[in-house]
Amino acid sequence: MAATDLERFSNEEKRNLSLGGHVGFDSLPDQLVSKSVTQGFSFNILCVGETGIGKSTLMNTLFNTTFETEEASHYESAVRLRPRTYDLQESNVHLKLTIVDAVGFGDQINKDESYRPIVEYIDTQFENYLQEELKIRRSLFDYHDTRIHVCLYFITPTGHSLKSLDLVTMKKLDSKVNIIPIIAKADTISKSELHKFKIKIMSELVSNGVQIYQFPTDDEAVAEINSVMNAHLPFAVVGSTEEVKVGNKLVRARQYPWGVVQVENESHCDFVKLREMLIRVNMEDLREQTHTRHYELYRRCKLEEMGFKDTDPDSQPFSLQETYETKRKEFLGELQRKEEEMRQMFVNKVKETEAELKEKERELHEKFEHLKRIHQEEKRKVEEKRRELEEEMNAFNRRKVAVETLQSQSLQATSQQPLKKDKDKKNFFSLPSAYSITTGRYVN
Ligand code: GTP
Ligand code: MG
Repeated sequence: MAATDLERFSNEEKRNLSLGGHVGFDSLPDQLVSKSVTQGFSFNILCVGETGIGKSTLMNTLFNTTFETEEASHYESAVRLRPRTYDLQESNVHLKLTIVDAVGFGDQINKDESYRPIVEYIDTQFENYLQEELKIRRSLFDYHDTRIHVCLYFITPTGHSLKSLDLVTMKKLDSKVNIIPIIAKADTISKSELHKFKIKIMSELVSNGVQIYQFPTDDEAVAEINSVMNAHLPFAVVGSTEEVKVGNKLVRARQYPWGVVQVENESHCDFVKLREMLIRVNMEDLREQTHTRHYELYRRCKLEEMGFKDTDPDSQPFSLQETYETKRKEFLGELQRKEEEMRQMFVNKVKETEAELKEKERELHEKFEHLKRIHQEEKRKVEEKRRELEEEMNAFNRRKVAVETLQSQSLQATSQQPLKKDKDKKNFFSLPSAYSITTGRYVN
């Protein structure tokens, strides 16, 4: 097809045609349903609320089962996220449900950083998904999606107002996850107090700019119920897995000396509303919002951080290929610059070491010369001493020879004159007995 034809064809309005008979693509929705059922679903709930507020009990009540529960201690040094995944089945639908508990939330003396591990956990799940998406060989079809679809934020039923910890945490989370605030243990607060408490909470959330999840009203089928339910937020719930006989029926309830609080009685609490909204009506919307709003935001920020963009500075489309080329050039340039820097650093280091070595050599040489001079001086002195000693020894030997000559002469004379006095003899023969090197004299 010529280029002009192609242009004309793509610019043309799409024409409506009627079919001559049944073709079969009206089964597409059924195919989709069948495919989804085969594939199964995943749904991930994050429970945030202080220790012992009733998180586990509510989860057990919501899914009408008993999940593994472990009481948290009040002495956790920091908030810790504990995910647990379960495979549930209802009719022929498989649900991979992950319940993530924020263990130790609100128990630290300094609560400034309480939100951080929660934010990090949510981001890590987004990052894992992004990494899978960016792989050359992706397997998103059977990928276990752990992104958090909803955060149930348990509010303590004080009847006063929200704690600053609640406001800070919800504010930090609202751009990352769908938040549904719920007033826990609603059986501990009176009806009139609860009404005022709900209004107070909503006005505080609005004045602090906290965006909570709104049940969607764009789908006609659920628009009415969702808009009614939006007005009931935050839901005041009661949890219990205990069955109590009311009339001739067994119902889940909490029994008190003064009466029974029925979990599924709408005039007692909003448990049914929560279950309707969370599971029966909006589960798919929560999953979709997570993907199209929260994950999309994370992905955009992350890719922009990595240097990817859709348009160039002149608002012209910028392809991934171009971004890659630009990044590659930048990277190679940076690499070259770093290499040059390293080389220069190495040369400088070598020069410095060379200079240091030369200096050391010079010092050693000087030391050697100094020692050599001292040694020569010592040698000269010893030589002098030796010469003096030799001279003295020679003198001594000469004297000794002279003495011996005299002695032999005197002996000869004595043999001729035997009357010579002893005293004279002694004086004449008194010779030094030793030579002192320190004084340089003969001593007796
Ligand atoms: P940790 O996981 O240890 O932080 O506790 P949790 O938030 O999971 O609370 P859990 O469900 O273990 O409940 C703690 C206590 O609160 C238990 O004694 C429950 O019976 C009680 N409880 C749970 N839900 C409610 C409720 O709706 N009303 C009242 N009055 N008590 C409740
Ligand atoms: Mg628990």
